[in-house]
Amino acid sequence: MTTSTVNHLLKQMTIKEKIAQLLQLAGPFFKGSDQQGQITGPMAEMPIEEEHILNSSSVLGVSGAKEVISIQQKHLEENRLGIPLLFMADIVHGYKTIFPVPLAIGCSWDLELAKKSTEIAAKEAAVSGVHVTFAPMVDLVRDPRWGRVMESTGEDPHLNSLFAKAFVEGFQKENLTSDTESVAACVKHFAAYGAAQAGRDYNTVDLSERQLRESYLPAYKAALDAGCEMVMTAFNTVDGIPATGNKELMRDLLREEWGFDGVLISDWGAVKELIAHGVAEDEKEAAKKAILAGLDIEMMTACYAQYLEELVEQGEIDIKLIDEAVLRILTLKEKLDLFNNPCRGASIEAEKAIVGHADHRKASRDLAAKSTVLLKNNHQTLPLSRNQKIALIGPFGDSNDLLGPWAGVGVKDEAVTMIKALKDHLPENNLIFSEGSSIEKITQSQLDEALQAASQADVVVLALGESSSMSGEANSRTNIQLPQAQLELIKTVAKEGKPVVTVLFNGRPLDLHGVVEHSDALLEAWFPGTEGGNALVDLLYGKVSPSAKLSMSFPYNVGQVPVYYNHFNTGRPKGAPDAQEHYVSDYMDSPNDPLFPFGFGLSYTSFAYDQFELSTDELTADSVIEASIRVKNTGSCSGEEIVQLYIRDFSGEIVRPVKELKDFCRISLEPGESEIIRFSIKEEQLRYHHKDLSFTSDAGKFEVFAGPNSQDTHSLFFTLKMKGGHTS
Ligand code: BGC
Repeated sequence: MTTSTVNHLLKQMTIKEKIAQLLQLAGPFFKGSDQQGQITGPMAEMPIEEEHILNSSSVLGVSGAKEVISIQQKHLEENRLGIPLLFMADIVHGYKTIFPVPLAIGCSWDLELAKKSTEIAAKEAAVSGVHVTFAPMVDLVRDPRWGRVMESTGEDPHLNSLFAKAFVEGFQKENLTSDTESVAACVKHFAAYGAAQAGRDYNTVDLSERQLRESYLPAYKAALDAGCEMVMTAFNTVDGIPATGNKELMRDLLREEWGFDGVLISDWGAVKELIAHGVAEDEKEAAKKAILAGLDIEMMTACYAQYLEELVEQGEIDIKLIDEAVLRILTLKEKLDLFNNPCRGASIEAEKAIVGHADHRKASRDLAAKSTVLLKNNHQTLPLSRNQKIALIGPFGDSNDLLGPWAGVGVKDEAVTMIKALKDHLPENNLIFSEGSSIEKITQSQLDEALQAASQADVVVLALGESSSMSGEANSRTNIQLPQAQLELIKTVAKEGKPVVTVLFNGRPLDLHGVVEHSDALLEAWFPGTEGGNALVDLLYGKVSPSAKLSMSFPYNVGQVPVYYNHFNTGRPKGAPDAQEHYVSDYMDSPNDPLFPFGFGLSYTSFAYDQFELSTDELTADSVIEASIRVKNTGSCSGEEIVQLYIRDFSGEIVRPVKELKDFCRISLEPGESEIIRFSIKEEQLRYHHKDLSFTSDAGKFEVFAGPNSQDTHSLFFTLKMKGGHTS
């Protein structure tokens, strides 16, 4: 099929057939589905008719070659014009082979491995019949109370943008038409869902347009620049208008300004939610607002299906809007070659051979090891030696809850637990296990047993955390400490006096008081995925030295939230040489700084930074400053380090962040080895959105920082010599 034939097809479609294309339904609605007819809960309330199902565009949340082939075949037998269905699902951090959660992947700063993870996820999903994944989720996050921070790569626009690109390139590969082991990507949630007030899910987002453009939009844009085929709208309002009925976001920004011509889909039920938001009186008005704002597919409510025809008849909306939306959907189907090959990659044999392949598990293990952040390691407690007798204690010691939320069709029982991996690695007598507590409850007998285990061991490994149902969608928390039961466990066990290594499993930055002071070493493992236990053993025993760096700050306490590294200064910053005694911007009962800052993470070796130099301290529109710094491995084992470069603008028309990540590189050094790392600084890196939203730079003074994290940096100044800047 060609564009003209897609157009030809559109001409043959009745208005009912067209409108049905704008509907997405879950599997139970479709003939041939394993769950056919199991339409329960709110789904059962949907006023869906047979002809809507017969002509709908797409199926939500179904995968598995057999089922996909069965639904598609039945559908094509009955669909008048032979228009195939699109199968869309949430393949967020793996299909069956589950990779660490995206926030963990963010901490790897490893774009190659990140891309590989989505290539593998795409391959497994595509042979299982999936055509489109609802990923990447690239919402910038600053509030760990929000349960969905685990779906994002973190708090930095630059890093998030690089990951957005890597994820999209991995999912979509080179060519969606010819490569049936790829899936189309759908970037979400447009826009700024991560800025939900007070970290409460679905809550209001109210940002200045400048802040939106500066911090929140770049990662969506990066995904689209990488060729991402679809965009999903967010549940929240942006400046008073729900994203799903927001013309400024969809038609003006996405379509007009950014030239996006792919498919726009709502989030689950979000069109009907325009009523609850209070901008539509009923479903008819909700349908009208959404189509006028530019939304193509309505997910899991039937406002379009019920009312668009009437709205056209009454002259309230132009049929052209429907035609355009249908054309975009048909074009995507064509791009995926579904008219010629409606089952595309789906193959029962390929599925057996490919899904969960050992190579995929190996990649997941590598990425999990690279995503685990070493937050503390006093007296070189880590790495451990196989000769030490360890007491593994805690609810995550023998838990398979390692996949985290949005784990595709991942099977918990296939996850490698800590205890399994340790048993494989250690002589039998060197491992004692005691559960110590469950996630939220502890008994005296559990505590006694844990103490007994600790007393017999050389070192205690505590495996603690949040269950996966404590983060993810609709799982916001106001208390971001570990549950009390586990705080009690660690406190009591630490009294035994054995070295304590704590391994944390969780989906958000936590307030680690009550954990950090009782731990000699602390590893943040997040939800590490299918190979979690093995990856942790690789780290605990030094086969791999930790190299991850936080991509989201860990607050000192929840009262500081949001706390993020790239904040503005105030007129009365704490610690300034001329600061007044009392009237400074701080708290009476807490430091301003987070407990662990953005970019922070230790290694088993140590690195020294010196000889920070700039090739010149003047930059012009066409010149480049080379910033160089020497990094030396001063410890006794080889290790990888992520060297970071930040810039601050002191001459902005608008107040600029105290630091902004501009570049980084990952290096590997042997003990005693050193390397000079060179970064190029160009005028274009100094641009930002001005008052009139022009994207330009300002002549004047800048500070450039280099170092191992956003706090411990060397710095130098340079001047940008020019008037005004360039609009890109
Ligand atoms: C989530 C989306 C997801 C969709 C479909 C919604 O509840 O917000 O991220 O893609 O469901 O499963």
